[in-house]
Amino acid sequence: MSDVRWSGAIFVLAGTLALPAVTGCRQEMYDQPKYKDLRRSEFFADQRQARPLPEGTVARGALGEDSRVSAGKSGNSLVTEFPVRVDAALLARGRQRYDIYCAPCHDRTGGGAGMVVRRGYQPPPSFHVERLRDAPVGHFFDVMTNGFGAMPDYAAQIDVADRWAIVAYIRALQLSQNAPVSAMAAPDRERLAKAPPMTVPPTPTPHPVPFPIPAAASTESR
Ligand code: HEC
Repeated sequence: MSDVRWSGAIFVLAGTLALPAVTGCRQEMYDQPKYKDLRRSEFFADQRQARPLPEGTVARGALGEDSRVSAGKSGNSLVTEFPVRVDAALLARGRQRYDIYCAPCHDRTGGGAGMVVRRGYQPPPSFHVERLRDAPVGHFFDVMTNGFGAMPDYAAQIDVADRWAIVAYIRALQLSQNAPVSAMAAPDRERLAKAPPMTVPPTPTPHPVPFPIPAAASTESR
């Protein structure tokens, strides 16, 4: 028993003696050679420890980037025109990204009945309502960048270029549901004028709620 006590005491003593060595080590790290601004340097030809900024250095926050592209805003107002070139490649990319990131809630037509919503998530407005048809392109960019009400933001998942691609595709979706005749090419307009009047098919009876749970089954399981 006393042996154990002795060895304990020796252990503590050894630890105490080792302490200065440990702090000495820390002191060496603290006093390691280093450069400080405004001190003299023996090494550099200009004898300054502070080094000049490499060419092209930009201070944080001073990039001078175009806020119309990076935020969809010019000053405080949302941009009404695309600040990027819109072409077929951008639309194709937008469609692909939209189907991945937006369709789960907004559905592939933009109607707002995506699978997540059909399973209980708060329904978003349709992109085909007048308010969103008239909304500036900057609004769609802003919603993705900062979120909107119950909708989380997608800034981390979708980079700036892809966000604009999605906005372009949403505009295409909107046009697909609401194209004025005046927007058609002349030959198409002529064909339309000659076409026999369209007969509207009767509205199909809506399918019952998916997977209805029979009342009897739900009481039995309790
Ligand atoms: C998890 C479901 C979900 C996903 C995914 C989602 N949204 Fe939404 N979105 C919503 C909901 C819910 C609202 C309505 C929010 C509210 O009014 O509180 C909404 C609203 C919107 C609105 C309308 C804002 C307004 O002015 O009323 C736009 C535009 C929009 N979303 C764009 C997008 C785009 C673009 C994507 C893909 C990058 C996307 N959303 C992905 C759920 C989602």
